[in-house]
Order: sequence, then structure tokens, then C-alpha cells
Amino acid sequence: VITMSDLDLAGLRVLIREDLNVPIHAGKVSSDARLRAALPTIQAAVAAGAKVMVMSHLGRPEEGVYDAEFSLQPVVDWLNEHLDVPARLATDYLNGVDVAVNEVVVFENIRFNVGEKKNDDALAQKLAALCDVFVMDAFGTAHRAQASTHGVAKYADVACAGPLLAAELDALGKALANPARPLVAIVGGSKVSTKLTVLESLSTVVDQLIVGGGIANTFIAAAGHGVGKSLYEADLQAEAGRLVAAAQAKGGDIPLPSDVVTGKEFSATATAETKPVTAIAADDMVFDIGPDTAQAFAKMLEQAGTIVWNGPVGVFEFDQFGEGTRVLAEAIANSKAFSIAGGGDTLAAIDKYGIADKISYISTGGGAFLEFLEGKELPAVAILEERAQHG
Ligand code: 3PG
Repeated sequence: VITMSDLDLAGLRVLIREDLNVPIHAGKVSSDARLRAALPTIQAAVAAGAKVMVMSHLGRPEEGVYDAEFSLQPVVDWLNEHLDVPARLATDYLNGVDVAVNEVVVFENIRFNVGEKKNDDALAQKLAALCDVFVMDAFGTAHRAQASTHGVAKYADVACAGPLLAAELDALGKALANPARPLVAIVGGSKVSTKLTVLESLSTVVDQLIVGGGIANTFIAAAGHGVGKSLYEADLQAEAGRLVAAAQAKGGDIPLPSDVVTGKEFSATATAETKPVTAIAADDMVFDIGPDTAQAFAKMLEQAGTIVWNGPVGVFEFDQFGEGTRVLAEAIANSKAFSIAGGGDTLAAIDKYGIADKISYISTGGGAFLEFLEGKELPAVAILEERAQHG
């Protein structure tokens, strides 16, 4: 694909699609990781002398309805604190917008437009007409074929990849295509069903797959142990069993936790009990891997050449059920492996344990990161490749 740095942007109208979908509380950005990741792209376009427009979605508002709760104004406020040039919000931009050099115009939430989600051609053409160059930089939204990610790239005079998108594809591509071995993946989170294709796809490329969180409960049940009242998916036990058998057939394994931390209720004040995986009571809920398991998994991470991490291994929001995730987070932080992490909960855990600067690469993608791991083609990247080939 063509990348932004290949082009001379001076004086051109440049429309950049970023993923500025960040959590907002009381009118303020509460976690700015995605904004910090997008900032250098915006700064580079300004420095190149472009007339810079930025667009993004925020949340999932109803199309065709303005809703202040989903306004990008707090993001514009943040940009004004971090850019050397002024940023302003444009609410009415589809029929043309005045933009000068040395300023940044941010379009109001792109999902307020009817047709965005279904990748409407007319909307995509309007967006394309606003710019000389379209820059796709929103890795976090690259798995969506929508008017502002895919359609606009189809119709813009020039469509290219931004530096953040390029860096994401490069880092994730390297980690999976040509990894330093052993390649160890940790997949946590609550449900096997949402990660089944990730587990299947990773299990074919990794040397060691580690599962935790609610996902592990289904594996525990598949091994014939009681899981009490824990969240697990009975209908996916057979699939979990198959994944384990396939790993074992290759001389490996997907290790079960030998011990777990349980509680009687899902609450910040629930009492934590550590017990062997064989002793889960009928009224127990498994909320974390136990300390022996955490040590065993940490040892596997110590020996890794590459680590891919998606999903916490316990309910780390509650400290008494966060030890497993903390121990693994620290093992990743201290390992010499090339480590990549992605996903909303994973980033929250990285923040909580203060290890962000010890992870080799933190992806801005949630769903997009998962789809990349699944080996799926990202439609917003595919269209850039198509444009690079056929113009
Ligand atoms: C995300 O947060 O994963 C991206 O911004 C995409 O958001 P969406 O799932 O609402 O399309």
C-alpha cells in the first residue's frame, strides 16, 4: 500500500480517518491511549503543510440523530491541549468545509451520518469529495467496512495508509509471520464463544497456547471437573477438548490451571478462596487462576521468544481476583521476548499494573486486533491494497 510518508501533502486537503473512540467520563477523555497513538500522524500532516481534516466514530450512536453523549468535543479539547495548532469541531461538513494550513478540523462523530455503518456509496463519495488525499490510520476500526473506513478509500483521488496503521500491521505481522520462538499466546477474557476463531487460528501458529479467565472454565469442564456456578459454555466443551487434543497430538498442550481462586458472589467484597482445580464446590465461581498456576504460566512466558497477549486471566477489577493477571503481566513485562498486547480489558490491566513501557508493542485495536489474530483480512486495509494495485 501507499503510505502517507510517500506523498507530498503541502497545500493539499488531507482527510485522516483515526480511531478516536475513547472512553469519556463527565465530558473528559478518561483514557487517552488511542489519542496519543494517533497524535503523531496528525502532527506529521500539519507539519507537511496539509489542510488537515480528521474523522472518527465514538461509541455506537443511533444514525441520523445528534446525541451530545457521543460528541467528539472532549477529543477536540484533548487535541487542543496536545497540538501546536488549533483544533476545532465541524458539525456540518458533508457539503464542504473550509480548512486552512496550520489548523486541524475534526468532523463530529462520523456515525451520526445515515449510511456510515452500511458503507453507503453516496456518503462515501461525499467524504471522498472533501479531500485530495484520504489517509486511513484507524487500525482499531480497520475491521469495519464502513463509509469512513472503506467506501471513502474507494472513491478518494488518492488513498493511503497512515503511519499508525502501517506500524500496527508491521508489528503484528512480524510477530505472527516470522516470530522469534517459542511463540506463546495468552488468551483470556470471559467467553470461548467470542474467541473461538482466535483460539483455533492461534493454535495452528503458536508453540504454546495459554487460556485463562472464563475461557479456561470451559476447558476445565471439558476435562471433566466441576466448575460450580462459574461462567462457562457447555456447548463449547467438545470444541475445547478438540483444541487440547490437537495441541497434544503435536507434542504440546493447552495447560489446565492446577489451582484456582474462587468466590461465592461476583462482587468487590467477595471472599477469595484458593483451591485445587479438582475441589471446586457446587456454589463456587472461579474468578482467577491460582498462585501455582500463575507461577507455572509465568515460567512458560520466561522462555518465550514472542508473546501475544489478549485478555485477562481473572476478574482483575477486584484486587483479590487480580493476582493471576498481575503475575502474568509482570512476567510479560520482565521477559526478553517481543511482546504484543491488545484489547480493551488487556490495556486496562496493563495500565493497572503499570507495565505499558515494558510491552514491546501495544495495539490500539480491540476487535481489529482479534480479527488480525484470526488471520482475517481487514476490509479497510484490503481496499488500500486494491487501490495501490489498480489505482
Ligand atoms: C473499537 O473500540 O474496537 C473500535 O473503535 C471499533 O468500534 P465498534 O466495535 O463500535 O465498531
